[in-house]
Amino acid sequence: MKLNIRVFPNLDTLSHSALDALLRIMDEAIRERGRFAVSLSGGHTPAKLYSLWAQTEKQKARTDWDCVHLFWGDERYVPHTDPLSNYRMTNEALISHVPIPAGNVHPMPGPEHFSTAEAAAEAYESELRKFFTGAAPAFDLQLLGLGTEGHTASLFPGSPALDERVRWVVAVTAPANPPQRLTVTLPVLNCARNTFFLVAGPDKREIIAALRNEPTPQASEYPAARVQPAGGPLWLLDQAAAG
Ligand code: 6PG
Repeated sequence: MKLNIRVFPNLDTLSHSALDALLRIMDEAIRERGRFAVSLSGGHTPAKLYSLWAQTEKQKARTDWDCVHLFWGDERYVPHTDPLSNYRMTNEALISHVPIPAGNVHPMPGPEHFSTAEAAAEAYESELRKFFTGAAPAFDLQLLGLGTEGHTASLFPGSPALDERVRWVVAVTAPANPPQRLTVTLPVLNCARNTFFLVAGPDKREIIAALRNEPTPQASEYPAARVQPAGGPLWLLDQAAAG
């Protein structure tokens, strides 16, 4: 399948460019809808972008934080204080450094909030439906990562969650540490107005090549290939991942 790719020398330049594009989308979203709803990805790759957003005075100052709403595309079902928590990573890199209202930060719940991952997933879906007032969950921007076996968010190859067409958020058991996770489903992933995959490092080279050779994205064994929102995702790769 054809990927809409931009290649950067390294993660630092990739992150700077991703932030510039994010802020342009933010400006348009606030102009048109009065708010910027962004779905964040976890893992390691996006941390540089998040810290640039918080640490670069110009970028931080030009952001109208009262209009920014942060969501997550997936989360590990661990306490928000756990080193494996995507929320914790984002809080350390971004949230704790910027004047965003607490009510604008919408983390996926953990075991400290709901005793089961299923209950946490249901609660987050309710929060999304409330925010989008029952309309489609069209994030202004969703950031996604890519696993070496083609997972994105916490949709892994072979997962029954890949067939979910009604629920927006489900609990899954992933072949990763930790296994219990919450993830948005493809109906959400294919609804965003803008989608960026941020992919860096030589360990992603093989999966990027596999995706480029994928003949049938909609039925691909690689969950990331099935993310086909209108206009298609933009793939921001460093040279190491692009090969
Ligand atoms: C997660 C992520 C996941 C991530 C990929 C890539 O919770 O782990 O949301 O989908 O984006 O695993 O992770 P890296 O950026 O660490 O390679």
